[in-house]
Amino acid sequence: MRQSEFGFDHGDAAEAIVDGAFLLRGRALPVVDELLVGVQDVVEASPLRHMITPGGAPMAAAQSNCGALGWVADRRGYRYEACDPETGRPWPAMPQVFASLARDAAGECGYDGFDPDCCLLNRYEVGCGMGQHVDADEQDFAWPIVSVSLGLPMTFRFGGVERGGKTLPVVLQHGDVLVFGGAARRRYHGTSPLKRGVHPVLGACRVNLTLRRAGTGALPRD
Ligand code: SIN
Ligand code: FE2
Repeated sequence: MRQSEFGFDHGDAAEAIVDGAFLLRGRALPVVDELLVGVQDVVEASPLRHMITPGGAPMAAAQSNCGALGWVADRRGYRYEACDPETGRPWPAMPQVFASLARDAAGECGYDGFDPDCCLLNRYEVGCGMGQHVDADEQDFAWPIVSVSLGLPMTFRFGGVERGGKTLPVVLQHGDVLVFGGAARRRYHGTSPLKRGVHPVLGACRVNLTLRRAGTGALPRD
């Protein structure tokens, strides 16, 4: 452990990317088989789908969720919901390995006590990407976002706090964990389109797990 320039301890493995954002290369590899079983279980219960944005366009990435809350886009807007609108049932429970990896990775970057209540799954096919956006539907921006990359490499891009302008590219590989909190939590970010390739385990796609603390801590009631 060492004191980082941002004023807290983090493991030597954490690479500072921008203020508040750290890359833990290969951090998920020791549990990758368990993660993939978890992904399979989640998408069996709540299948991947292309949600429709308020503007009427389908999202490029196919998405699902697990945990107490799931991120939803539809004609009415963006929000978190306790039930999957496609199945009418609660989102599948978050596999323990997702939550423990996220908690440990966040802790290694100085964000202690991270207890995610949502994991958004994004599956990108070749040529698909995600436009610049801020994760803004969560109740408390004090919590970081933990992002786990599986499958083909993809270029993630950090922008600034205003839309537009230059972006900083970060190549995310199978097993990498990106943690962004603090000042980075309010930055625009997105990805370049997925480049052609075939990953030995996942084939011609990338799956991203985005772990978040969306709610206040109280379980949603209906
Ligand atoms: C996101 O920002 O929601 C996902 C980015 C990624 O797939 O790495
Ligand atoms: Fe995001």
